[in-house]
Amino acid sequence: MSSASSAIPKRAAAAGVTNVEFIVGDVQTLEAVDGTFDAVVSKLILMYLPIQSTALCRAARHVRPGGLVVAHEADLTYGWAAPQSLLRSQVRDWFLQPLAATHIEARMGLRLCRCFLEAGLSTPTLTLEAAVASGPEAAA
Ligand SMILES: C[S@@+](CC[C@H](N)C(=O)[O-])C[C@H]1O[C@@H](n2cnc3c(N)ncnc32)[C@H](O)[C@@H]1O
Repeated sequence: MSSASSAIPKRAAAAGVTNVEFIVGDVQTLEAVDGTFDAVVSKLILMYLPIQSTALCRAARHVRPGGLVVAHEADLTYGWAAPQSLLRSQVRDWFLQPLAATHIEARMGLRLCRCFLEAGLSTPTLTLEAAVASGPEAAA
């Protein structure tokens, strides 16, 4: 968890969740993490890391034999729309260009299998979901 997520423990406490411990740290080092867990779950984190498989491998070492390593990542370049519009294309470019400029892996979802294998893990079971929006509230 990054320090930007400091509101999360308060929200958990307010919701009466008491059996969770939150640790602020760099997922690339996991310095503050000790012990073995049933599962490691990451969501939209690997895409920010320069060497994703190293972080995944390090996290997986904390999972008990038979435990789960779960990663949710996206393909942020997926931009299908009907009809296509110039505005939508422009907004999509404005969104993707800073990601590319800062070396954020916009297509991490498509790299997950390779990442697992590079991390020394077995071939993951992959599923793909896509949100579909329509109507006046849909993005341009
Ligand atoms: C798109 S958010 C996803 C947050 C959360 N997993 C979710 O799905 O709502 C990406 C998060 O990754 C965190 N992050 C990026 N690099 C990190 C690192 N090296 N160590 C820890 N957190 C990191 C950012 O601070 C940010 O909170």
